[in-house]
Amino acid sequence: MSIDGEQDVVALKRVGAVVAEARDAMAAHVAPGVTTAELDAVGRDVLRRHGARSAPQLAYQFPGATCISVNDEIAHGIPSQRVLREGDLVNIDVSAELDGYWADSGASFPVGQVSPRARALLFGTKAALDDAIAEVRAGAPLRNIGRAVERRARRSGFRVVRNLCGHGVGRHIHEEPQVSNTFERHNPLLLPEGLVMTIEPFFTTSATVAIEGDDGWTLRTPDGSIGAQFEHTLIVTRGQPIIVT
Ligand code: CO
Ligand code: CO
Repeated sequence: MSIDGEQDVVALKRVGAVVAEARDAMAAHVAPGVTTAELDAVGRDVLRRHGARSAPQLAYQFPGATCISVNDEIAHGIPSQRVLREGDLVNIDVSAELDGYWADSGASFPVGQVSPRARALLFGTKAALDDAIAEVRAGAPLRNIGRAVERRARRSGFRVVRNLCGHGVGRHIHEEPQVSNTFERHNPLLLPEGLVMTIEPFFTTSATVAIEGDDGWTLRTPDGSIGAQFEHTLIVTRGQPIIVT
């Protein structure tokens, strides 16, 4: 969506704050021995307390309130009795609807002590999100986002998952435009003032695509390499974007 006045900004900040609270509450419960279903329940309770509805449930009948993906799972992992173990990487992706407005955020976390390579993967992927956000202002080319993400991947020695991308958001969970994590040299789109969108780089230690798993939801690397993702919902302005999550 594109915002049409201050009431849209207020409403997006409201749903964004709920999504962020759920993400952070779940993150605070990440520890060895916790199941992904237990994490999901923490997020589900935050959404419910605020009267928000899970976006993946509402839009896609996803079998969980949030998406929780571990190690070589890249996205859309189903909460389950899987027990998190020391050394795992866990991605928590929360998206929700409140009063007709939608927001989306994700982040990856270490479970206990993780390998130096896994720590570097988290750091590099988070840095890619920061680099990409720094490219966002009204009138700037959309393709600069993917260019920044790819640059960071190269500099930090990781690979971009090329078939997953950010997206427009606000009145539904997935709207136009697609926000590529790779440099689309010939994409002419300039970011319009007021556009509501997500940026969500996915990095791995080697795979460049995510493939669908047997459960029909989970996206994973074909070679077992581990991945990380960080995501925010933001509003394009003439200056720095407004990050609502
Ligand atoms: Co998300
Ligand atoms: Co998203």
